[in-house]
Amino acid sequence: ADTLGAQAALSGRYFGTAVAAGRLGDSTYAGIVDREFSSVTAENEMKWDTVEPSRGSFNFGPGDQIANRALGRGQQVRGHTLVWHSQLPGWVGSIRDANTLRSVMNNHITTVMNHYRGKIHSWDVVNEAFADGGSGQLRSSVFRDVLGDGFLEEAFRTARQADPNAKLCYNDYNIENWTDAKTQGVYRMVRDFKARGVPIDCVGLQAHFGAGGPPANFQTTVSSFAALGVDVQITELDIAQASQTAYANAVRACMNVARCTGITVWGVRDSDSWRTGQNPLLFDNAGNKKPAYHSVMSVLGGA
Ligand code: G3I
Repeated sequence: ADTLGAQAALSGRYFGTAVAAGRLGDSTYAGIVDREFSSVTAENEMKWDTVEPSRGSFNFGPGDQIANRALGRGQQVRGHTLVWHSQLPGWVGSIRDANTLRSVMNNHITTVMNHYRGKIHSWDVVNEAFADGGSGQLRSSVFRDVLGDGFLEEAFRTARQADPNAKLCYNDYNIENWTDAKTQGVYRMVRDFKARGVPIDCVGLQAHFGAGGPPANFQTTVSSFAALGVDVQITELDIAQASQTAYANAVRACMNVARCTGITVWGVRDSDSWRTGQNPLLFDNAGNKKPAYHSVMSVLGGA
């Protein structure tokens, strides 16, 4: 096949990109999004600060623009993200009463998932809840600090009720190296959820890599999560300098694990990336395919 999406589909996977609504008027950008990708993730437009800027008042305009445009072109949509400590409006961050915060969190999850029901294949229900460094514990956030560690499980239970057909994902960064304490902390959480019947279907590995690409044990991480009975998705892939080898290694780890069901790169052209000056994506600033594009194609089994 001659596009990333079509080639990935031959092995039953999707190949997606993050999309920014504000760039869709750029015909070079939109042309690549439409041609190459079979899934899209809103880069910012489904985050809490956009979707519920004040309590109970929901704004689905920007997210709808991305989702409806994609669905109309036969692309799938990933939902990003429901519960996250960042891009969280101040009114949520200042809640100190647990009953209030619980009801606010559950109402947000339910309202957003109901709105998009049937349109979103996978939701990042909770994003980046684990601490960096060696603790293997949850990070401090309004959710953890006011509700306790149980907020995670509550979020997933609420999400399952809101849209029983969406895959429910836990998504995080720096959980690609199997021996890192953060990876092990997330692994223990997923294992515990599966053991106790807390609904979880998927782990999202963001995969924001340095120039060396994934660690040598990356495939072990992918297969170890998969062995718990969840899908694994690479959700925000970008690699400083985008070497062919680094991209090939990242994609190969997914291709080698049956339950690694899809890959999303975090932007289209280098100039669209949040990693300014690092040239981490598959298309150059003019929209031309970079060498890494061709190595990804080849690992996906294409020419
Ligand atoms: O919307 C405002 C706009 O009104 C204002 O004029 C402009 C001026 O700077 O800022 C705009 O907001 C920016 C927003 O992107 C939209 O462009 C924010 O300042 C900026 O912080 C925000 O950055 C996003 C970042 O998440 C925020 O945490 C990036 O685009 C987005 O790529 C990045 O994505 C995250 C994932 O969601 C989670 N994982 C890590 C990943 C990379 O940080």
